[in-house]
Amino acid sequence: MDVKGHAAIVTGAASGLGAATARALAEKGAKVALLDLNAEDAGKIADEIGGIAIGCDVTSAESAEEAVQAAHEKHGPARILVSCAGIAPPKRIVGRDGAQPLEAFAAIINVNLIGTFNVMRLVAADMTALDPLETGERGVIINTASIAAMDGQIGQAAYAASKGGIASMTLPAARELARSGVRVLAIAPGIFGTPMLFGLSEEVQKALGESVPFPSRLGDPAEYAALALHMIDNVMLNGEVVRLDGALRMAPQ
Ligand SMILES: NC(=O)c1ccc[n+]([C@@H]2O[C@H](COP(=O)([O-])OP(=O)(O)OC[C@H]3O[C@@H](n4cnc5c(N)ncnc54)[C@H](O)[C@@H]3O)[C@@H](O)[C@H]2O)c1
Repeated sequence: MDVKGHAAIVTGAASGLGAATARALAEKGAKVALLDLNAEDAGKIADEIGGIAIGCDVTSAESAEEAVQAAHEKHGPARILVSCAGIAPPKRIVGRDGAQPLEAFAAIINVNLIGTFNVMRLVAADMTALDPLETGERGVIINTASIAAMDGQIGQAAYAASKGGIASMTLPAARELARSGVRVLAIAPGIFGTPMLFGLSEEVQKALGESVPFPSRLGDPAEYAALALHMIDNVMLNGEVVRLDGALRMAPQ
C-alpha cells in the first residue's frame, strides 16, 4: 500500500520507535494521528509533522475508543495502524523483597498485550468497513513485539510474556482479518536507542550495543520505521513476526 493520503494511527508516538514511525509516515504523505499517554510530547511531534496528537491510555477501552473516534473524525478511518505503546520495567519473579507483587506483572501485560489488542480491535473494525484498494487491501496493522518474546532475560518474565502474546496473536489476527483484506504483522526489535534504553548508564548502553553481532550498535528508531514502511508497502507480507535485531540472541542476563 502506498501510504500517501491515507490515515494512519501510531500509538506510543510521543517517543522512540513510535515517534520515528509517525515521522516516516508523514514524510511519505500519510495523515498521522499520534496517540500517547504523553499528549504533550505527542503534540510537539504532531506540530512538526502536520499530524494530530490525541491523549490516550491504551489500557482503557473508553480512552482508546475516544481516541480512535477522534482520529477517525479528523482523518477518516485509518488504513494503517502501528502500535508502539509499551513499558518494560524489569522485575525478578522472586526478588530481595520476596515474590513479585502480582500487580507488577499484571501492569505490564495490561499495557503491552491488552493495550495492543485494545487498539487493534477498534482500528480493525474501522478498516473492515473501508472500500478495498486496487490490491484488495483494506488496511495494515503492525504491532510491536520484542526479541524478548523468544529470548527473554532474567527479570523479563512479564515483559517476555506480554511480547510473546503479541507475537502469538499475529497469525490468528491475520487469518481472521484476511477475508477483509487487512494484513497483520509484528516487528520484534532487538535493542534500539530510545528513551526506554537511555535510562540505562552509558556503559550499559555501550555494552548492549557491542553485544549485537552486526551491526554492533544500538538500532536506530529510523530503521524500525523503515521496516514498518516496507511492511505497509509489501502486500505479500502477512501474519509474520519479523526480528529486527542484527542477529542478536540475548543471553540469560
Ligand atoms: N527500545 C528497544 O530496544 C525496544 C526493543 C524491543 C521492543 N521495544 C518495544 O517497542 C515499543 C516502543 O518502545 P520505545 O523504545 O520507543 O519506548 P519509549 O519509552 O521511547 O516509548 C513508549 C511510548 O509508549 C507510551 N505509553 C506507555 N504506556 C502507555 C499507555 N498506557 N497508553 C498510551 N501510551 C503509552 C509512552 O508514553 C511512550 O511515549 C514498546 O512496545 C517496546 O516494548 C523496544
